[in-house]
This record gives sequence, C-alpha cells and structure tokens, in this order.
Amino acid sequence: MAITPSSTTVHPGELVQLVSPSNKIYFVRAIPGGDLQTHRGVVRFDDLIGLPWGSQIFSHLGSTFFLLQPGLADIIKETRRNTQIMYPKDIGFILMTLNIGPGVRVIEAGTGSGAMTTALAWAVGTTGKVISYEARPEMQNLARKNLDRLDLASNVEFKLRDIAEGFDEQNVDSLFLDLPNPYDYMAHVQRALKPGGFFGCILPTFNQVEKLLLTLYQYQFGFTDVCEILLRYYKPVHNRLRPTDRMVAHTGYLIFSRSILSNEKITFPQEDSEANHEFNQPD
Ligand SMILES: C[S@@+](CC[C@H](N)C(=O)[O-])C[C@H]1O[C@@H](n2cnc3c(N)ncnc32)[C@H](O)[C@@H]1O
Repeated sequence: MAITPSSTTVHPGELVQLVSPSNKIYFVRAIPGGDLQTHRGVVRFDDLIGLPWGSQIFSHLGSTFFLLQPGLADIIKETRRNTQIMYPKDIGFILMTLNIGPGVRVIEAGTGSGAMTTALAWAVGTTGKVISYEARPEMQNLARKNLDRLDLASNVEFKLRDIAEGFDEQNVDSLFLDLPNPYDYMAHVQRALKPGGFFGCILPTFNQVEKLLLTLYQYQFGFTDVCEILLRYYKPVHNRLRPTDRMVAHTGYLIFSRSILSNEKITFPQEDSEANHEFNQPD
C-alpha cells in the first residue's frame, strides 16, 4: 500500500516525505534497497523502514532530514502534470459540497493529470467508484500512472471519450466537470445524475460562469451556488505574525447545483433571492 494513514512507522513501499530544515521536500517511495541521492548526501531507504513518522534522520554526509508521512494535500500538490491541476483549497470544499464519501458513485471529466481523481478515489474508498472521462489518451495515461503509484487506481474506472458523446452511467450520486465548456454538456449531465444529485464545476472566467448559469436554468437545475475560495497563508513567527508576501489570488470559480425533478419551470434566482449558502441561525 502506498499510503497507510494509520501506520505509526514507515512500512516497506510506503510514500515518504523527506523534508530538509529549509523545507525542501523530497517525495519518495521507501522501496527496500533503494536510496535518494541529493546534494545534501545519500539517504538509504533501508535506514528509514521501521522508523516512527516524525523521526530525524541523517544522510551519509550528515545532513538532517525529517521523515514525514504525506497527507492527501501533499500528495495532490506533488501530482505529475501535463495540465493545470486542481489544488487542495478548492478540492476540499468540492468534496464536502458534492457529498463525496465512502460508497459514493461519482463521475468526473476531464481527468487531466488526475489530481482531482486522486482526491475523489481517496474519498469514495473501495466501496465507491469514480468514473473519470478524458478525451486525450496521453492525459489518461498520465493520470492512470499517478493513481497506480498511489494504489488508488482500483477505485477508478477510466474512460477515454469526449463527453460530447455522453456518459454511460445513470443515477450517479455526484458529477464534477473541470473542462472549459460545461454548458455544452448539461443534457448529458442531467441524464447521468440521479434526481436530486449533486453537480459541481470549476471555471476560470466570469464569462464561462454566466453561460453555465443560463444553461443550468434551462435544464431545470436548482439551488445553485457560485463562489470562490480565497486562501491566505501567514508566516508562523510567533512575535512577527503577518501574511506571507505572495498569495495565489485566483484559481477558479466554483459552481454547485442540484438536479431537480419538477413539472414547473424553476424560477431564475433574482438578485434579492435568499442565498442557500447562509448558515442557519438558531431559532
Ligand atoms: C484542466 S484539465 C483537468 C485537470 C484535472 N481536474 C486535475 O485536477 O488534474 C482539463 C482536461 O479536460 C479534458 N477535456 C476537455 N474537454 C473534454 C471533453 N469534452 N471530454 C473529455 N475530456 C475533456 C482535457 O483534455 C484536459 O485533460
């Protein structure tokens, strides 16, 4: 197993982060007999296996490294990529909003480099299924390799297809699109989602969001939310706490909506309509 979240020591074959005191991160798999060659010296994997997570270790030149178990966010950020990938700040919120958890059947398109696929596969576990559509074979191959490396590929069914040709599945619980023109595929989305199912999408520009909103309305989707997630990191210095100098200002707009069964036309939200994202206040 590449990742065993409950392990307390490094098992043979597990993914390991070796972190230098200056925060340089080396992401390796602890294969017996293997090693990592760095300009700070060589670290032999046989010396790591069996050590508790969090241990301090030394290269043959005496340089320090810390032995950390990678979390899902670390793994996603390390995704080998040929495309723009999705980042933990967006993925975390999307997983919750689309209700992705053990046993869920979720469609995504496009697969791209497989960063989102990784998070979905992790969340649905062995009892659920991610059905991931991608039009370009080279992208699908890369994503499959990325998921294989993490031993998560068995939770995923990879499909090589332009989704203009539709989805094979019906009654899936959730569906997520990360491609430029989701508004062209809403008829397919509606057929694949179960009634009431969760739809989500990420788009980089306003113009695309506007087109999608109109199409969601035309296809009777309701309870739509549009948002973006702004994440600001701070320098964690106790006596000089302040924001880091740079931040990622924009990744994408997130759009969420629900498939609705209704004989009546859903009314288009007006500016003064109640937002459905507001937290309920106690009575
Ligand atoms: C931005 S990438 C997706 C990145 C992915 N979410 C990740 O986190 O790694 C968009 C992908 O959608 C694929 N794509 C675009 N239009 C498509 C379509 N109509 N059907 C299937 N895949 C499509 C592209 O080939 C590309 O690989």
